[in-house]
Amino acid sequence: MIRTIRVIGIGMGDPTHVTGEAARALSTVDVFLVADKGEATADLVAARQAVCDALIPADHAYRFVEVADPRRGPDAERDDTAYGRGVRDWHAARVAAYADVIEALPPDETTVGFLVWGDPAFYDSTIRIVDALVEHWATRGLAVEHDVIAGISAPQLLAARHRIPLNRIGAPIHVTTGRRLVDEYDPALGDVVVMLDGRLACADLADAFPDLELFWGAYLGTPDELLVRGRLADVVGEVRRVRAEARERHGWVMDTYLLRPPGGASADPAPGGFPAIGPLTDGVVTVRPLVAADWTVLRDEHNNEESLRWDFVGRPLTDDEARLRAARAPREWRLGRAARFVMVDTATGEGAGVIGVMRMGPPGLGLVGYGVLPQFRGRGFTTRALRLVARWAFEEAGVDRLELGHKADNVASGRAAARAGFTAEGRLRQRLPNPDGTRSDEIYYAMTRDGLAPDSPR
Ligand SMILES: C[S@@+](CC[C@H](N)C(=O)[O-])C[C@H]1O[C@@H](n2cnc3c(N)ncnc32)[C@H](O)[C@@H]1O
Repeated sequence: MIRTIRVIGIGMGDPTHVTGEAARALSTVDVFLVADKGEATADLVAARQAVCDALIPADHAYRFVEVADPRRGPDAERDDTAYGRGVRDWHAARVAAYADVIEALPPDETTVGFLVWGDPAFYDSTIRIVDALVEHWATRGLAVEHDVIAGISAPQLLAARHRIPLNRIGAPIHVTTGRRLVDEYDPALGDVVVMLDGRLACADLADAFPDLELFWGAYLGTPDELLVRGRLADVVGEVRRVRAEARERHGWVMDTYLLRPPGGASADPAPGGFPAIGPLTDGVVTVRPLVAADWTVLRDEHNNEESLRWDFVGRPLTDDEARLRAARAPREWRLGRAARFVMVDTATGEGAGVIGVMRMGPPGLGLVGYGVLPQFRGRGFTTRALRLVARWAFEEAGVDRLELGHKADNVASGRAAARAGFTAEGRLRQRLPNPDGTRSDEIYYAMTRDGLAPDSPR
């Protein structure tokens, strides 16, 4: 009867990569379950067998049981939702298959081991499957212990082989899959480790980001190990060729790589990002870059009757939505997508509203948005904040023209803009949606660099 399940990371196949803790754990297992995974199975089972033979003392009896892996769908053709659903169905089928095999074990085989390639924490479902198995037996009144033993992962071995750290000083590491790489790649991510890449997705980045440094490794930890390093555009052809030849020889290929932005610079600031600044003030109103802690100002500026009336949708923000928007603001700033500020009452330090400049349309254009909390309205805060932000945008952020618009009936908004030096340029018919499904005309304003009042505050 099953009593214990051990999930053991065995590194990349070489017995010398197995930690002392994992080696001790191996010697306590009665039955190792291995999934029959098709083309790479024979090699993988042989590698696991070699690890066990090398590390488990001869007087400890153990055996391997292969469990047929349920068929998995055509992942490459699926969108993310179908892919996620497919993987979940496949996991459920695997749980059922393992439960059947384990429940049929003889009574003296009480410790079952799962040997995990690399480390169980990196793109491996074993822990989730074991959790489901433990839960399956718990609902039947059977308590099964389980533990997890770490192993050397492919990214760790890649870094060791290339003799590099994966991160730059104080910077993050982004670990992702080949499936996601092209969609989510942005140099601001910094160092990006790619796994589970059946088709060398980095080749699709070579035109846009030729100077990325590629550190590539395949069959790491095996006698067939392959390493390539160099400027992406220069080496991607070689990697493609080496990879195709290796796949031909082995029938399968497992590779991992790191993409590093050039120059050893940290990810910040991103090219084109807004410059970092401290608070700007005219003595009455202060504006400073909005940070996660300002989420209540962002929420309260949106969630009041007046603001919701002029909103496109008219739905209040939930606290979570407001937290997320505020938390994203520093990154939008660094990437140069939007410079979001919180307006503060200088006298009290209280948050009074929000104002932002979004980069959109032709180069040099900034779209301004703003809103003030009800208790601060009628005190000229918007006009003051607009002057501060306009001067910063023209003088420090490389903006040549600021634009803003408001619903035709929202005269207070237009008045604040005009006082700050914006000029009405026209009426755009039915441009802005209303919560009741109708549309309103928009009055469009703009200010150019030369429109900045000489006496506007610095
Ligand atoms: C299912 S994930 C398992 C990762 C594993 N748990 C780890 O810690 O590295 C399989 C992916 O790991 C990477 N990988 C596994 N073995 C590798 C090896 N020997 N050399 C290079 N990459 C490997 C490849 O990116 C492969 O697509």
